[in-house]
Amino acid sequence: MTISNDELAGLVEPTRAHKRVYIDPEVFELEMERIWGQAWIYIGHETQVPKAGDFFTTNINHKVPVVMVRDKNGAVHVLHNRCGHKGAKLVETRQGNARGAFRCAYHGWTFQHDGSILKIPNEKGYDNTGFDIKDPCNNMQKVAQQQSYRGFVFATLSPDAPDLETWLGGSKDCLDNLCDRAPEGEVEVAGGVLRYEHDCNWKHIMENLNDTMHPMVVHQSVVQSAQDYIDTLPPEAVKRRSEAEIILPFGGSYEDFEDSGITGFRYGHHYDGGKTSIHADYTVDPEYHAAMVKAYGEERTRDIYSFNTHNTCYYPSLTIKSAVQNIRVVRPVAVNKFVVETWSFRLKGAPDFMLQRTLLYSRLINSSASMVGPDDLEVYRRMQEGLESNASDWVEFHRQYGQDKDEGDRVVGGGTSDLDMRTQYAAWKAYMLQEAYV
Ligand code: FES
Ligand SMILES: [Fe+2]
Repeated sequence: MTISNDELAGLVEPTRAHKRVYIDPEVFELEMERIWGQAWIYIGHETQVPKAGDFFTTNINHKVPVVMVRDKNGAVHVLHNRCGHKGAKLVETRQGNARGAFRCAYHGWTFQHDGSILKIPNEKGYDNTGFDIKDPCNNMQKVAQQQSYRGFVFATLSPDAPDLETWLGGSKDCLDNLCDRAPEGEVEVAGGVLRYEHDCNWKHIMENLNDTMHPMVVHQSVVQSAQDYIDTLPPEAVKRRSEAEIILPFGGSYEDFEDSGITGFRYGHHYDGGKTSIHADYTVDPEYHAAMVKAYGEERTRDIYSFNTHNTCYYPSLTIKSAVQNIRVVRPVAVNKFVVETWSFRLKGAPDFMLQRTLLYSRLINSSASMVGPDDLEVYRRMQEGLESNASDWVEFHRQYGQDKDEGDRVVGGGTSDLDMRTQYAAWKAYMLQEAYV
């Protein structure tokens, strides 16, 4: 039985969400169709497929496999990963090079890198059958829309979605800032990927990343252990240690996080920081600074550094750290399971130290073997378990409600407010009631 729109509308109020949004498999299936099937979903970065025939496979939602591939003219395509013959998934490997064409493992139909059919074995059996090899329905199908922004490739299953830049709105400043931090103004994927399975609902991570009321509690033990160790070292050994710079700000005070501010946008995007963030006090490497000043001049370089955000969430599939140059990609699997991938980026024209710091950050914070990410997963798991009980029906997000300031294309509020939750649930409701693109 399908849940009615009235019932869905009742699951989200301005300051609270019903527990069913986290635990009900029917709600999850509708989210896959109405949120993940309508929004722009991050697929990958163009530098993951640098040469003709290079491909990368992923899923748009839990049921729609796609392949991102570069053709011989240099264009990048996002295609449904489905054979035009009898529907077999065509590309099984995560990434590789398809040289001349994709070849289906079942009956050997082949497809060019733009998805068009190339050849059918023993084709004469189709003579006088009404079959037309030129009919586009025999191709690997293109997704409804694909666009990229500064190398970041997005796709949507909705023909009605607005163009990508409109959808990103003011939050695209954060993608710009990530790229502008490269002296050459471009980034490229480097250093591999970390995949981390989470046994809980996908929304927990999107709701956690700009929840600044949790780091000083959930990550207290890590920060304390790091501090205890640092206290045993001579001051000279600690100065400019990236590990110390990365971990200790997670123990910041409520006032520190309040100062960072939160900004929300249409379609559920939001970021924490701007003027300041937990990354704002990182040492600026002199060699990197020199390369930046040479590329941009002193004033512009200062502007780029000073737009210092923490996490930017592009609802529902992508979160980025502009100041650290890594991103996390979210992929739901079931109502109580998702996978998160961490990708790291090299700033083109920057010294190697910058990539090393990015990779260190990914290992220390985002990896399944890190000190911080597993803390968060532990509380997501506890939420999933607690929400299954009959104790209460609601999850609240009232903090600083009524103080959110509408600035036209964005809403701004205090860094410890629940503005990020309210922003996401406004979008959740608009997508679920199919009013997002009205
Ligand atoms: S299903 Fe792919 S060639 Fe038959
Ligand atoms: Fe956390």
